[in-house]
Amino acid sequence: MADHWTKLELDVRTFDAARFVTYAERCRAAGIRLTTLAELGDTPPHRRELYTLNKDCSADIPDRGEFYTFDEYIERRVDVPSFDPRGVVIALDGDTWCGLAATSDQRSDGFVFNEMTGVRAGYRGRGISIAMKTFGIGFAHLCGVDKIRTFHHPANAAAIEMNRRLGYVDAQWD
Ligand SMILES: CC(C)(COP(=O)(O)OP(=O)(O)OC[C@H]1O[C@@H](n2cnc3c(N)ncnc32)[C@H](O)[C@@H]1OP(=O)(O)O)[C@@H](O)C(=O)NCCC(=O)NCCS
Repeated sequence: MADHWTKLELDVRTFDAARFVTYAERCRAAGIRLTTLAELGDTPPHRRELYTLNKDCSADIPDRGEFYTFDEYIERRVDVPSFDPRGVVIALDGDTWCGLAATSDQRSDGFVFNEMTGVRAGYRGRGISIAMKTFGIGFAHLCGVDKIRTFHHPANAAAIEMNRRLGYVDAQWD
């Protein structure tokens, strides 16, 4: 594990979605559809798909270590008060779940939190993560907060650069 994380924050009041329209257009042109777990249905088979996708993408997080079992994942990430299927953006290529951007509801602390953004290896470098995170910005509005927070292992250049591209800046919190 890292002994210090790269902590990042986005102020959604200054987020300019128009700057990122081309990423969504690229996805559409490639047949990638963006939706949420709420729209697809927060059902047992969809939770299984979510787990598999999250697990596969997490294999590329530096120092991630062994991923949860399915039961641990449900207990720690899904059956918790901050989980909201409206905050879980899914990218679909036909029936294939190729990306997720999961944001949890931490409104009692004044923000929402990007739990995990991941794109399957064969789909990377096509703008899918930017398109998913832009699509998911509305979740912060829905929760009535201005801030989205996340943190990454300092060696996770792809994730850090992706967030900086969106306008996330360095932040400090305990
Ligand atoms: C991080 C991740 C989600 C990026 O997904 P992606 O769909 O390939 O990213 P995009 O194509 O949308 O790229 C967005 C921006 O990120 C940056 N970026 C993406 N991959 C990068 C890389 N390998 N190195 C440096 N910057 C990179 C670029 O700034 C890029 O913008 P540009 O295309 O306009 O130059 C993907 O690499 C991944 O799933 N990694 C494993 C899981 C992970 O580490 N998740 C983060 C922890 S929660």
